[in-house]
Amino acid sequence: MYTKIIKIDENNIDKNLIGEAVRIIKNGGLVAFPTETVYGLGANGLDEEAVKKIFIAKGRPQDNPLILHVYSTDQVEDLVEEIPPVAKLCMDKFWPGPLTIILKKSPKVPDIISAGLDTVAIRMPENKIALEIIRLSNTPIAAPSANTSGKPSPTSARHVIEDLMGRIDMIVDGGDTGIGLESTVLDLSTDIPMILRPGGVTKEDLSKTIPNISIDSSIIKEDEKLIPKSPGQKYRHYAPKAEMFVFSGQVDSIVEAIIVNTEKYTKEGKRVGIICTDETKDFYKEGVIISMGSRKNKETIARNLFNTLRTFDHLDVDIILAEGVDLSNLGIAIMNRMMKAASGKIIKV
Ligand code: TXA
Ligand code: MG
Repeated sequence: MYTKIIKIDENNIDKNLIGEAVRIIKNGGLVAFPTETVYGLGANGLDEEAVKKIFIAKGRPQDNPLILHVYSTDQVEDLVEEIPPVAKLCMDKFWPGPLTIILKKSPKVPDIISAGLDTVAIRMPENKIALEIIRLSNTPIAAPSANTSGKPSPTSARHVIEDLMGRIDMIVDGGDTGIGLESTVLDLSTDIPMILRPGGVTKEDLSKTIPNISIDSSIIKEDEKLIPKSPGQKYRHYAPKAEMFVFSGQVDSIVEAIIVNTEKYTKEGKRVGIICTDETKDFYKEGVIISMGSRKNKETIARNLFNTLRTFDHLDVDIILAEGVDLSNLGIAIMNRMMKAASGKIIKV
């Protein structure tokens, strides 16, 4: 399949170019476009045949439901049984933005979207290109992250090209995404509001609106007995080619452990990649070293994480040793992605 790549400036959207993307969506095709979190792979969310193509292009398991993207809260009414007051509050406060809300679905939502569940995930993205594509398509748009299933989510058009070139109709290049991690998934379909996936809107942010919010305990613990409540959380994810280990604990102990392990693996003839931070990068003398940014700024670390994982794929390292971060604010989202990238191999130091 021929994949057309177009460039659109978020602050000066070219009507003709965006019109081409909209035409593809209306005709049942697939368009990758930027959101403020990661790039999404979009199709008409009410067209079952179009949505099927998403699963094929990504190699996504059929039992993993998709998020419907809307440009107005009016669009939500048709898609859900009801909008409880707490959901209304969250929409007012956090939309457009990196928050996905799960509610009981209406019969209008195709089963392929919800993967047979009686709920549907909905989000209003903040990126102007995304919003304009949804508005002009005049339909909710189903959009998972625009990566091959199992790989890190794409934070630039280049990542989408790596994974999906020749498999989809169009890639809209709108530059690098700002947040760099996927949206927070918040389940409001039961009486107990629960975060199923940590993301750009933090638990600290949400608890101001929902004081009794809880968080799915499987999010940062890799324990087979804990079955994640969100289907997507059970799959191997974000996986770089190399085997990865995450070190968590006090920063100086982390650095010490990574230095010792780098020496050990290097002696074994392995090429070691180190994911570190600005504060620690000068302590490492061997290995391929990439800093994700300052520990004082988790936003930067979040923005750089997936690109760093993909960069190591190109640098042909055998082992990746990564510094963990503390779990406050965006930390839990960062550690959740790192833990999955490492298939649960967290070393407490
Ligand atoms: O930031 C994002 O959310 C990006 C951008 C493109 O919007 N999208 C994204 O979609 O990350 P995806 O498909 O890669 O992740 C959606 C997550 C999955 O973990 C899925 O299992 C969960 O949301 N999910 C979707 N519908 C659900 C439902 N009804 N109940 C529980 N989890 C659901
Ligand atoms: Mg994804």
